[in-house]
Amino acid sequence: MKLYIETYGCQMNVSDSEVAVSILKENGFTHTGDIHEADIILVNTCSVRENAETRVWGRLDVFRQIRKKKPEIIIGIIGCMAERLKAKLLEEGRVDLVVGPDAYRDLPRLIKQAESGKAAINVQLSCDEMYEDISPARYGSNGVSAFVSIMRGCDNMCAFCVVPFTRGRERSRDPETILQEIFELKEKRFREVTLIGQNVDKYNWKNSDASVINFASLLERVATANPELRARFSTSYPQDMTDEVLHIMAKYQNICKSIHLPMQSGSTRILELMRRGYTSEWYMGRITAIKKILPGCAISTDIITGFCGETEEDHKDTLSLMTWAKFDFAFMFKYSERPNTFAQRNYKDDVPENIKAQRLAEIIALQNKLSAESKQQDLNKVFEVLVEGFSKKSKDFLSGRNSHNKVIVFPKKNYSIGDFVQVRVIRSTSATLIGEVVKK
Ligand code: SAH
Ligand code: F3S
Repeated sequence: MKLYIETYGCQMNVSDSEVAVSILKENGFTHTGDIHEADIILVNTCSVRENAETRVWGRLDVFRQIRKKKPEIIIGIIGCMAERLKAKLLEEGRVDLVVGPDAYRDLPRLIKQAESGKAAINVQLSCDEMYEDISPARYGSNGVSAFVSIMRGCDNMCAFCVVPFTRGRERSRDPETILQEIFELKEKRFREVTLIGQNVDKYNWKNSDASVINFASLLERVATANPELRARFSTSYPQDMTDEVLHIMAKYQNICKSIHLPMQSGSTRILELMRRGYTSEWYMGRITAIKKILPGCAISTDIITGFCGETEEDHKDTLSLMTWAKFDFAFMFKYSERPNTFAQRNYKDDVPENIKAQRLAEIIALQNKLSAESKQQDLNKVFEVLVEGFSKKSKDFLSGRNSHNKVIVFPKKNYSIGDFVQVRVIRSTSATLIGEVVKK
């Protein structure tokens, strides 16, 4: 059977789709990138904001049209929406298969059941499923850079967030299996790994002799075992990010100098309502530590605007914290109320939609200015760029990222995908830095 899969949402979903494809390949399925030749369509979904779910409903309408021409096709929803809506998704017969993030090993059996005409569902969450023995099928990969999952789930319970409900309890993966997966990637000539988890700073593995491996020591082991690979990680959490991690980053040249540290709001009052567990002063302290221990390190963030009870003053606090921190990059969102979260159960989603939109526009405008300033600082500097592919605009140009996770485009000459190239930045556009190769 031919399997087609679409993935929405975070890096963890990208990684999970690779796991699901690997499990199905082991069971005789082949992967296809062409939806029209598929016997089974899977859509790996995100529930974090309402519009992420709306998009999937739209896709299901498209799949229904395909089913009209090919009635035997199997359509399945997997991931966070499957977990959140469970059997409700089977009503109306739009899908045949519903599988939560911890049940992918069960996919082959569930697909068989769906083939026999019986709707199939497994949304059981697990406290220990890590898929650690499964080598993810890197089907959409550029062959250069790969995600390696080090944790699953999240125990933080931020008031606005649905992830703890859809991905279950926080757990860490055996470091030996992480190192083994990275070793295999290296054998396949990958050049960069991104260690991923909802809150990597909570990584915690107990060895049989009761000694503990925390995130800093895991990162150090990854860096020292693989000097020819670049290592990144995501996502850090302000409450938990330690100086120890920053010192390990400083110590190893092959750990990229880029940190994603979601701030969410610049107002301590709102942070408390969000149950983030830190104040804006604490957040500033963490940024100060990064700038001191890792001068020049890129810092990116996530911001939610229009959270319950947010006043104009709170919004101003967010703008001023952004200006102070000088983020290189940010993901910015309007607050979207999610069913069953603490915020939905206890607060009123009381910031009107037009105010949310207006505040978001102000935040985006400010970040555009900060991002432009950050790129301005890069002019005339030389960076090592790992080439990931061709520039979108021209085959005569290559595109890659520097240690700061900024995209740099430069003339191809005789360089190839997977090369590390020294590039001087000569100008910038709104999204990209343009450079020229510097001879070593
Ligand atoms: N720790 C996670 C965060 C997952 S959600 C990680 O690994 O990235 C990613 C971002 O989505 C959050 O940082 C937050 O800014 C945003 N987000 C989460 N729930 C949201 C909601 N209900 N409305 C709007 N944005 C939300
Ligand atoms: Fe969500 Fe907060 Fe965890 S944003 S994923 S509950 S760290």
